[in-house]
Amino acid sequence: MPLNVLLLGPQGAGKGTQATRISSEYDIPHVASGEILRAEMAAGTDLGNRVRDVIGRGDLVSDDLMIELIRARLEQPDTDAGFVLDGFPRTLVQAEALDSILSGIGRSFSVVFSLQIPDEVAFERLRRRAQLEERADDTDEAIQRRLDLYHEETEPLIEYYRTRGRLVPIHGDRSENEVFAELQSALEQVPA
Ligand code: AP5
Ligand code: MG
Repeated sequence: MPLNVLLLGPQGAGKGTQATRISSEYDIPHVASGEILRAEMAAGTDLGNRVRDVIGRGDLVSDDLMIELIRARLEQPDTDAGFVLDGFPRTLVQAEALDSILSGIGRSFSVVFSLQIPDEVAFERLRRRAQLEERADDTDEAIQRRLDLYHEETEPLIEYYRTRGRLVPIHGDRSENEVFAELQSALEQVPA
């Protein structure tokens, strides 16, 4: 059975960090909406140039554009054994579209993790990351905007997935290793 994993959580919760580990441990591709967009920006494609300002402000890219990007990515043959999805869906419209994308390729989520951390911790982590990495949206203003949008648009998806089953809440304000150990023990329960 393919292992299809979704990571939900606010900015700085560790979605990218933990998805990278799941991807290498279980040998499934890490599909990260933000990484796809940053690669387009770095390559200077039309798409990258179109989204640059939106991302820099910490706003959301349009649902239509994101849905088509993720649809195309999940239809690639390297997802046959499964995938770990990070950064999508972020709105109810995206979640509903994802349901139809997945049923179109005969899939459903094996597990949906909700990584939870307080906003203060998110802020602290992203400020630290801003000193180490070059991410245009790790400014105080854009971090606040992203967190506000998370609470308004994305947090309701926790309830969306809870009512559909397979939601596993994870306390994210612990060391990377402790969080990963908990994810792994939940992944061991997934029927093979
Ligand atoms: P995206 O790239 O998805 O960024 P994000 O949601 O802002 O989330 P982050 O990447 O900041 O957080 P993360 O949870 O991955 O944390 P990480 O592991 O890096 O999106 C960027 C932008 O693209 C959006 O704002 C939007 O404009 C656009 N976009 C993307 N998807 C979209 C969509 N579906 N719809 C519309 N627009 C979309 O960890 C953060 C830091 O904390 C790191 O430095 C890490 O080392 C550290 N850390 C991680 N875990 C721990 C730990 N346990 N203890 C201490 N430090 C830790
Ligand atoms: Mg990330």
